[in-house]
Amino acid sequence: TVFPDDTTGSQVVATEIADIIKEKQQEGKPAVLGLATGASPLNIYKELIRMHKEEGLSFSNVITFNLDEYYPMEPDSLQSYVRFMYENLFNHIDIKKENIHIPDGTLSLDAVKTYCREYDEQIEKLGGLDLQLLGIGRTGHIGFNEPGSSLSSPTRMVKLDPLTVSDAAKDFIKEEFVPLRAITMGVGTIMQAKKIILVAWGQGKAPIVQEMVEGKITDEVPASFLQTHPNASVVLDERAAANL
Ligand code: GLP
Repeated sequence: TVFPDDTTGSQVVATEIADIIKEKQQEGKPAVLGLATGASPLNIYKELIRMHKEEGLSFSNVITFNLDEYYPMEPDSLQSYVRFMYENLFNHIDIKKENIHIPDGTLSLDAVKTYCREYDEQIEKLGGLDLQLLGIGRTGHIGFNEPGSSLSSPTRMVKLDPLTVSDAAKDFIKEEFVPLRAITMGVGTIMQAKKIILVAWGQGKAPIVQEMVEGKITDEVPASFLQTHPNASVVLDERAAANL
């Protein structure tokens, strides 16, 4: 779906998320949401906060799993995705702290494997993600699943692509300060979500959006795997859709 701008598209996506939360509330069940960081979801989170404050949308039944975190990363660092999520969403809504899951960038190296397996197991035990929200990186990554990530990849530690490192430099003052690794939910984990919404805004994303939507399905563009998902939608502004 193509919208004239990010604000309009974000309002529609926020409404879809709110509808899932309300539907699950009526059923007396938790809504299990996979969340993303970066600039792309910011206006969606703003709209959800507005709905909470002005319309009484409650997040008391919401359980969240974030896609990724740099490694190593302290949660209170400026660039931490934990900090990002609290500042841009969680501090402003009534979600229960114990329902928030974000990959832990402070683990010792030998604890990562078990931690990642348990991350996937927790999602599975809850019956899977009702919705996964995604952005896309210019390498075609979803989460931090860089080119070469397989369709069945689980949550794991990954090495960041040089293009991702250079795109992240703006948040880290200098490129040499960007961590070279991250913990990311796997493509396999993402693909098991019942519904997926990927959002992309701006001209910079137009070439990779075209490859994702119209290109061949290949691990060279991990986002292209979404073409095979039964309930995935791509929400764009006109600039990100320019090459379609
Ligand atoms: C980041 C994140 C992704 C995000 C992507 C795009 O590195 N790991 O989850 O979707 O890159 O970021 P942005 O939304 O800022 O363009």
